[in-house]
Parts: sequence; C-alpha cells; structure tokens
Amino acid sequence: MTRIPHETPGEANPLQALTLDRLRCRTSMKWRTYPADVLPLWVAEMDVPLAEPVVAAVTQALALGDTGYPAGTAYAEALALFAAKRWAWDGLAVERTAIVPDVMLGVVEMLKLVTGPGDPVVVNPPVYPPFFQFVAHMDRRIAEAPLGADGRLDLAVLEDAYRRAVFGGGRAAHLLCSPHNPTGTVHTARELAAVAALARRYGVRVVVDEIHAPLTAPGGDFVPWLAVPGAENGLSLMSASKGWNLAGLKAALAVAGPEAAADLALLPEEVSHGPSHVGVLAHTAALLEGTGWLDALLAGLDDNRRLLTALLAEHLPGVRYRPGDATYLAWLDCRALGLGDDPAAVFLERGRVALSCGLDFGTGGAGHVRLNIATSPEILTEGVRRMTAALR
Ligand SMILES: Cc1ncc(COP(=O)(O)O)c(C=O)c1O
Repeated sequence: MTRIPHETPGEANPLQALTLDRLRCRTSMKWRTYPADVLPLWVAEMDVPLAEPVVAAVTQALALGDTGYPAGTAYAEALALFAAKRWAWDGLAVERTAIVPDVMLGVVEMLKLVTGPGDPVVVNPPVYPPFFQFVAHMDRRIAEAPLGADGRLDLAVLEDAYRRAVFGGGRAAHLLCSPHNPTGTVHTARELAAVAALARRYGVRVVVDEIHAPLTAPGGDFVPWLAVPGAENGLSLMSASKGWNLAGLKAALAVAGPEAAADLALLPEEVSHGPSHVGVLAHTAALLEGTGWLDALLAGLDDNRRLLTALLAEHLPGVRYRPGDATYLAWLDCRALGLGDDPAAVFLERGRVALSCGLDFGTGGAGHVRLNIATSPEILTEGVRRMTAALR
C-alpha cells in the first residue's frame, strides 16, 4: 500500500485561531496551575479550537443524550483506516484491539500482561515523566537506557539494559515512546528493527506508546511498531488524544501484534468500561474526518519550529534546540546559560513563563526545559521574550 502524502492544508491554521484572552477562560491544567500573570507553555495541551467534525460528533451525542457506555469497534476501525492511509500500514487488525481509558492506563494494563510485580521496565530517558510515576505505582522497577547525545536510541546502551533486565531469568519489558517525548525524535525503520531484534534476543517484551504518531511532520515517516519485522509480539497504545487535543475526552486503543493476541485476550473486561463513550465518538470522528484539520495543524507546527529556531538564535543563542520531526514539544538544552539543573524554575520565577522542568524527564534532563509550541506565533514569541527577560 502506498503512503498518501499529507494534504496541502485547505483549512486555516488552528494555532492562529484563539487569542490569549480567550485561552485564559479555559479551566484545564495548562491554564489553571499558575497565576494569571504566568504564560503557560508547559503541559501537552494545544491552544487550538477543536476540529469541526469532532465538535459535530460531540454536539450530536449531547443533543441525543448519547452519553452512556462505549460499545463496538468503530474507534479501532477508524484507526485502521487512518493507519493505512497515513502510514501505509494495513496490519492493524480490529480483532486484536481493545479500548482502554487512556494511553497511560493502557500502558499499565499492557505492562501487567507481560511482567509481574518487581520486574524491570526499560525506558529511554529523557522521557515523558509519567512513565516513571506509573511504572513505580504499579510495583515495577524502572531500568534506564538513556538516549544518546544525538537524542536517538542508543542500541549498545539498550542492549546492556536488556541484558541486566533479564539477568536471573525474570520477565522484563521495554516501554518505548515512539515518536519520542520530549525530543520529538521519530525512530527510523532501521532503528526500530534493531530494537525488535534485540528484544527478541533477550526475551524482552516491548510495549510502545505511539500517542504522538499523528503529530509527525510531513516527511517525518513515522513507522508503527507493529509494522516492524520482528515486532509481532508487541503491544501498542494509540490514541487521537494528542493529535486532536482530546485529553479531556478520555479514550485510547491497545493494539496487539499477531503473537501478542493471546496476551491481549487476557485483558480484564472491566478495563473497557473506563473510556468515555463521548470520548470514543470524538476520537473516531477525528481519525475519520479530521485529517484536513490535522494537516493544517502540522503546517502551523512546522512554522512554529522555524520561528522558535529563529527566536532562539536571535535572543537566546546559548540555548541548544534540535527541532524534532514529531510532537509539538521543544526540548531545550539550557546548560550554557548557567541557570543550574532547573532552568524552568528561573524562567518561571523571573520571566513568568511556565515550561516543563527537565529534571522530571530522568537522566539527561538536568539543565533542560520542555517548551510546548502548540500555540500562536505571537504567544510563542512572547514566551521567548519572557525567557530572555529572566536572564537580565
Ligand atoms: C508520550 C505520552 N504518553 C501518554 C500521554 C498521556 O496520554 P493519556 O492522556 O491518553 O494518558 C502523553 C501526554 O502528553 C504523552 O506525551
């Protein structure tokens, strides 16, 4: 099957649709964690209006009072269609999927299927902080296999982590983030095949968080884990939540490779009671009818990556930024600024701009911040102005 190129956006850039005053009316975590004089560029929420098909689906559900429990496989079917068109992957089998409340609870459930209490879970820091929290909360042990200096998977380090994880004969899993949060790295087919081969060799089960996959830039070539030769025993978590800004409309899908079907079949039935039915409807509409909106968003994010590069070069040349091919997150190396291990604290205190603290991302996070670029060019520019002001 051939990959259909991203469309030239016919829709307006959703990142330019909302004013700061309007955004400040929001009551979600991004907008209510800090005082009103702080510009929030931290948690992974986007400053966009929703895609029109999503609004229509949710509005219709509310008008009908269709707010009961989720049923059926429409979400999985929509994802299978999206995956075939977007990533030229036609291997997503609806019968090997399960709805889960959200990606992180899905990760927990998948890890429960392939590991037991006390078993190690390999992660690749710097990585999405809840990976550490959720794994610890479920009585598994984190084993770090840090990314290389180039921000990519380091296969030698990974092999060493696998070797140690299975030493003594226990079960072990690798929780892979693909594309990677916070660097925006899109793992290549070759890298993923090498990980799959290593995981086979050491008997490590791979659980992949692919929530950022729809946010891969045009030309970024995201490769689904379950499309990788050798990864047939993998378990993936996918969702429309990040791509279409639907975190408050809870739903996600667990997808098993052919050799993991028996594992997924052991998922307790009650897990499927967790997702919101309205969430499932919203995610389904996004995947089926929201691609025009998504393409306009991706074009806007590309513009913002270029804008951020230019702003940093002009105002904060000491900050190192390597734009990734996916996500709307910018991982900024601020070590040359001399602000210590937690520059986010300084930017907040002196600049009144909230960024994510790099320390929370594990090894490699000290001296770094994560900046959320899913906002208007004006707000992004103001964010860098505030960071610059913090240094005066
Ligand atoms: C890598 C990654 N996984 C999971 C999540 C959270 O997803 P959910 O709300 O579906 O648990 C996020 C949110 O930013 C994320 O970046």
